[in-house]
Amino acid sequence: MVVNENAKAEITPKRKQGDGQYIKEGSDESTWLIFAPKADAVGSLETCLNLFTKHGVYLRHIESRASTRDLSKYEFVVECAPSKGLHEAIENLKLNVTYLNIISRDFNEESGTLPWFPRKIKELDRFANQILSYGSELDSDHPGFTDSVYRARRKYFADIAFNYKHDQPLPHVDYTDEEIKTWGVVYKQLVDLYPKYACREFNHVFPLLIENCGYREDNIPQLQDISNFLKDSTGFILRPVAGLLSSRDFLAGLAFRVFHSTQYIRHHSLPLYTPEPDVCHELLGHVPLFADPEFADFSQQIGLASLGAPDEYVQKLATCYWFTVEFGLCRQDGQIKAFGAGLLSSFGELEYCVSDKPELRPFEPEKTAVQSYPITEYQPVYYVAESFEDAKNKMIEFSQTIPREFTVRYNPYTQSVELLTSKSQVEGVVKKLSGDILLLLEALRKL
Ligand SMILES: [Fe+2]
Repeated sequence: MVVNENAKAEITPKRKQGDGQYIKEGSDESTWLIFAPKADAVGSLETCLNLFTKHGVYLRHIESRASTRDLSKYEFVVECAPSKGLHEAIENLKLNVTYLNIISRDFNEESGTLPWFPRKIKELDRFANQILSYGSELDSDHPGFTDSVYRARRKYFADIAFNYKHDQPLPHVDYTDEEIKTWGVVYKQLVDLYPKYACREFNHVFPLLIENCGYREDNIPQLQDISNFLKDSTGFILRPVAGLLSSRDFLAGLAFRVFHSTQYIRHHSLPLYTPEPDVCHELLGHVPLFADPEFADFSQQIGLASLGAPDEYVQKLATCYWFTVEFGLCRQDGQIKAFGAGLLSSFGELEYCVSDKPELRPFEPEKTAVQSYPITEYQPVYYVAESFEDAKNKMIEFSQTIPREFTVRYNPYTQSVELLTSKSQVEGVVKKLSGDILLLLEALRKL
């Protein structure tokens, strides 16, 4: 397979942290604080920040944003590097703020406390307040960095996602002509490649998205239409996301069959390049397979395995996610096909991944989970799944090796996660399964 080198250079000249998935990488040792100073008086933020200096805490990232609790006020997000003075700085900070949310990956192996995780689908709303980097904050090398119109647009998208609550209609966006044109360039490039490179399931669903969700070169589909379609197909739904989530939060969404999706589009100056996941990546790369029942089960399995898991295992699951949902390959009719969204939204890597350049290995979660990977270039190693069902069963086996004191089960009727920690709870599940088995026996008799 000949890779179009020019095209490759154009679409992914470099990939930055977070590309391909909405996960904040590489900051697991940091502690994130979100706080609102006590008064809006001049200098109140300075007072808070001085506390970090006083206690020798180095801040890796600072940003401000409107508060969801009081829209007239601002709150601040800081990323603190590990340091001895951090505990004391936080104790002092508490005296100077009206609100403080501490997000730390350093969960208490010593105290034995369980990392918090959502038990009901509505609790995913909490993640909006745990965004680690707001979607309107562009780096200086971002193609839209000097474009004030684009920056304002990014802030608009970040704000509507930040204020979104479960069960609300997904925000309808009137995309501009320029945005639709950018989408059209990407759409046209990719749809021609799908029949040859994408897996069977993807190619089965894609025409249904054209038919039901407005997938067209001259139209950017609306999240609500897609979410309705996915819900009918597999129970998966979308919700907008304002910025980068931690691996733990992002994977927890999958446990509830919820996919956090961006809604903005890349900058028009470089339509075939994006430094972060945008609506092209989500709608063209991710969405089609969430309509496939086996793939949906597989994705949810990764999410369920992550709930309450120790940090080390959340990282392993995030790596499995990377090598499957983002960059997965599978074998179909003796040929290698792509199913990862990072591949299906990048025409350069889509051609490269099936060439003889990368190394292919069988998907085995215990080995895949510890494989390192580059984030600024094409993957040197891909993992090949035999089928989504096989990958799901392997993930279930792998999740049984995660040291957790409990077993989790998703209840689709209540859209909640049940912890099976008592005999009576397990008996309840057995009773339900017995009812299902009687139903199956009856159906068999009638066949
Ligand atoms: Fe992604």
